[in-house]
Amino acid sequence: MCGIVGILGKGPVADKVIEALHRLEYRGYDSSGIASLEAGRLEVCRAEGKLRHLEAKLDRHPLHGDIAIGHTRWATHGKPTERNAHPHATRRVAVVHNGIIENFRELKLELEALGVSFQSETDTEVVAQLVDRALLEGKSPVDAVASVLPRLRGAFALAFLFDGQDDLLIAARRGSPLAIGYGDGEMFLGSDAIALGAFTNRIAYLDEGDWAVLTREGVVMHDEHGAIVQRPVQTVPAGALLVDRGNHRHFMAKEIYEQPEVIGHTFGHYIDLENETMALPDLPFDPRTVKSISITACGTAFYAGAVAEYWFERFARIPVSLDIASEFRYRETPLDPDGVTIVISQSGETADTLASLRYAKECGQKVVAVVNVPTSTIAREADAVLMTLAGPEIGVASTKAFTCQLATLACLAVSLGRTNEHLSREDERRLVRALMETPRLMTEALKLAPEIELLARTLAKARDVLYLGRGTAYPLAMEGALKLKEISYIHAEGYAAGELKHGPIALIDETMPVVVIAPFDRIFEKTVSNMEEVAARGGRIILVTDPKGAEAAPVDAVQKLILPEMPATIGPMVYSIPAQLIAYHTAVIMGTDVDQPRNLAKSVTVE
Ligand code: M6R
Repeated sequence: MCGIVGILGKGPVADKVIEALHRLEYRGYDSSGIASLEAGRLEVCRAEGKLRHLEAKLDRHPLHGDIAIGHTRWATHGKPTERNAHPHATRRVAVVHNGIIENFRELKLELEALGVSFQSETDTEVVAQLVDRALLEGKSPVDAVASVLPRLRGAFALAFLFDGQDDLLIAARRGSPLAIGYGDGEMFLGSDAIALGAFTNRIAYLDEGDWAVLTREGVVMHDEHGAIVQRPVQTVPAGALLVDRGNHRHFMAKEIYEQPEVIGHTFGHYIDLENETMALPDLPFDPRTVKSISITACGTAFYAGAVAEYWFERFARIPVSLDIASEFRYRETPLDPDGVTIVISQSGETADTLASLRYAKECGQKVVAVVNVPTSTIAREADAVLMTLAGPEIGVASTKAFTCQLATLACLAVSLGRTNEHLSREDERRLVRALMETPRLMTEALKLAPEIELLARTLAKARDVLYLGRGTAYPLAMEGALKLKEISYIHAEGYAAGELKHGPIALIDETMPVVVIAPFDRIFEKTVSNMEEVAARGGRIILVTDPKGAEAAPVDAVQKLILPEMPATIGPMVYSIPAQLIAYHTAVIMGTDVDQPRNLAKSVTVE
């Protein structure tokens, strides 16, 4: 949610902190700040809004310290103002925080009763004040932090910098990720390895409950009981840490255009091309005895799960129950101890998805995680991990991660179907050949961009947009609508086309664009009836289909986006491209902040 950085350097580190914060802006960007030691004394600089506002302030009042912590914020408690921006500091300690301190109200009351006055509306400030009091009582910085951590409830990552301590940073992790970077006479701290990519590729991850004491010589890590522990230092491949926009105006555009390539990588990972068979790693369950699968995720990842529901049921004949993770985790649904839960997450850090994983494990289930970040908490806690090889996704609106999730889930569904013998060897070969056509057909789909750019000029004037689809195009309709509202701020909803006359048809008039996602298939005719119903009420239809569908759509008020004919299984991946381009070009025309839309964060580590 928020991004945290800490650096113990050899010279002034403010520029490095800013560089790392830029890499973390995907986690939050409504305010930012830095605290460093200037001649041994704590100094803080904070700014409301984007990181460039902080940079402008630092240009006017540079910081020269060789030790600092920094933060980029996604507001949870308290408005995104400068007063609420991190670091929060007293005279003795400064703290940056990602996550939520759930018991901050009671702690605040306790501190206020002792005469402490608060400067911000945040939950974070109680941490600074508690540590400050422990320091005042004469505790050392390490003892002060160690005494405060057990008093905090919630999910968080914290970093502390202390007045007069120019060779000490303390970090703590409970529920939110933290990476430690090893330099040569320097040490680093970041919410993820990408933040530290410009400085080091030697990274260790704190485990749940760990806290760490960093000096320039190294780090001493403790587990939640205070025992000293070692966490493995990994060398992260350099390419994995470096991301830029290439020739594109936005990360989102770059990520949309990367899809043919990354989908190819993902299939290459799970398919034995020579033998045209699925080649998934061993799974911790036997598909022949699994009676049902639960799928849970949030946002776009949930829609990937909703598409996969059709595949698991069709290819493997295993019934699926599908849940939004924030509901699943609290629903106390009884889970068969011999069953399987699949969690899907780009970041691998989404709080509700992680909690759902833990719930399923407590119920005795095996958990398979489909994730894009291999070092993430979800990847580490799952019984089996199926990586999506989308590469780092920076745009807040998920695009390539979504289609790589679909690719991975399609491979899993076919593989399960083959193992439990609902699919024959010939079926598998046919499906593998179909899947391998995806990158080429995605490249074709990208050629619709100029047409979609024109269409977006009209869409940008709409107040509401409806998306309709049947079968796997139904979750895709919901994903298309989510994409549009996320980045253009136009209200949009996705519906199962058959549901139209059960309510949403009341919304249709001549001002309402209706995007219909409908490849020509066995239920196309049903969707034609729905289009007729829309046209009869003056609705403006945008039909995303193939040549046969375009010919068979008899309604007048139709603008058509025509994709090549393709096997039904790969439709959700290829049809994602026009859905993403519609949202992207509409947002560009509206002049919104495409990569960092308001109020959103890339990684939602709070519930
Ligand atoms: O990292 P995750 O895949 O777990 O994230 C889940 C959602 O927060 C995410 O898909 C969100 O809906 C995106 N902004 C959609 O574009």
